[in-house]
Amino acid sequence: MATLPTEILEDEHKLIMRVVDALKVFAENMEDGWEVDEETLVDIIEFMRVFAQKWHHAKEEDELFPALVKRGVPRVGCPLVQLKNEHKKSNNYVAELVQSMELYRRSGVEGWTDVIQGLKNLYLYYPNHIWKEENMLFPMTNRLLLAEDQQQLLAEFERIDALHGQKLHDRLEQFALRLEKQTFGD
Ligand SMILES: [Fe+2]
Ligand SMILES: [Fe+2]
Repeated sequence: MATLPTEILEDEHKLIMRVVDALKVFAENMEDGWEVDEETLVDIIEFMRVFAQKWHHAKEEDELFPALVKRGVPRVGCPLVQLKNEHKKSNNYVAELVQSMELYRRSGVEGWTDVIQGLKNLYLYYPNHIWKEENMLFPMTNRLLLAEDQQQLLAEFERIDALHGQKLHDRLEQFALRLEKQTFGD
């Protein structure tokens, strides 16, 4: 059977979760007083901004959700508005993390606990959000969308992939794998 759009989104979730799982350990190490690895933090922020927000959330919000609305899912209300709000929430978490990082860089002390809190916010948020999508939204998607909708979605996903480019995808994927390996070993 051809790939379904939801399978592509699930693959992206797996990549996001590699980073999110590592964030937990990263934050715990920071709490234990480990030196902050600023370079890795910058890469984590880039991954979240580019891959999770601009890439993955865009496929969901700009393409999948409107396709569902076309097939009768309410534009306002559950589950689309709730999931959109959750995306906003995660964008805010990343924005706050950037601010805390800047404060920490300037002062060398302040912002430290906020950086840890920022990482915690993200690793507490993502598993729930992804669970809702994979157990509620995606089964509903595969029930409601017609074959032609699925085709259209695949084409739109390809367009979004092309917009960002394979090179950037590979770089972000390599980062996620490297972070996972650094954190958990082989
Ligand atoms: Fe989402
Ligand atoms: Fe998602």
